[in-house]
Amino acid sequence: MAHIIAVAGKGGVGKTVISALLLRFLIEDEDIRRDGVLVIDADPAVSLPFALGLEVKKTIGDIREEIAEPSGIIFDERMPIDMLLEYKIDEIMVKRPYFSLIAMGRPEGVGCYCLVNDMLRHFIGKLSSRFGTILIDCEAGLEHLSRRTTQDVDTMLVVSDFTKRGFKTAAAIKSLAESLHIEFKRIFLVLNKVPASANVHFDEIERLTGMPIAGVVPEDEIVSKFDYEGKPILLLPEDSKAVLAVRKIFERIFSV
Ligand SMILES: Nc1ncnc2c1ncn2[C@@H]1O[C@H](COP(=O)(O)OP(=O)(O)OP(=O)(O)O)[C@@H](O)[C@H]1O
Ligand SMILES: [Mg+2]
Repeated sequence: MAHIIAVAGKGGVGKTVISALLLRFLIEDEDIRRDGVLVIDADPAVSLPFALGLEVKKTIGDIREEIAEPSGIIFDERMPIDMLLEYKIDEIMVKRPYFSLIAMGRPEGVGCYCLVNDMLRHFIGKLSSRFGTILIDCEAGLEHLSRRTTQDVDTMLVVSDFTKRGFKTAAAIKSLAESLHIEFKRIFLVLNKVPASANVHFDEIERLTGMPIAGVVPEDEIVSKFDYEGKPILLLPEDSKAVLAVRKIFERIFSV
């Protein structure tokens, strides 16, 4: 079964940036790479592919439309739904030499998220046996968790900015996960966009959020510059502050 890593947190804290940089270290590791790495963009707005320099033509949301309104040649009433979904996974999966990616996207109709989330859960279950590691860039806010898409997560990373409000939201995400009985083997806090002048009181933040800190990622102007220019975050220079910090997080997660 795959080691599932979920990156969660409130909107705009840097989940996609952290996910893209984590992927970089996952695929740099020969053992992890050999067992297969799948990244899932679970944000309906689809943004991780850009951070990775990829284009996604089809999402789970699109498949949902096709299954709901079968008009394409692929649909066959005699084909069991399980087999049809299996076929569809491969159709939407973007395959690269070192990793594969699927994007959740959004259904066109109003309110069909539950079904798309159900499909995502189904896919994660199926793909767990095909990949050694599955990294999920979760949707902003808590809706995604409340629908239990990320249940049975091995490593949960809750990203927070360096504000009291951010710490409170991170703590709320953890409490919600617990109240929903979502199985997290381990949960860590990741502090992101931390100003260079900040004095990080580890003990106090860990007490406030109830999570051990996996790492502190500084505010890095190269990240903003890359995002502004539309360059893939995956290609940030090796010695940039954010890359060095995420390397430490990666080492921490995989040394335990
Ligand atoms: N360490 C960092 N230093 C500087 N800028 C950063 C850093 N991390 C993220 N950013 C910037 O913060 C913004 C939000 O980042 P990102 O898109 O990764 O957040 P997100 O949590 O995935 O957002 P959303 O909730 O919309 O999915 C981006 O403009 C990104 O360039
Ligand atoms: Mg994002």
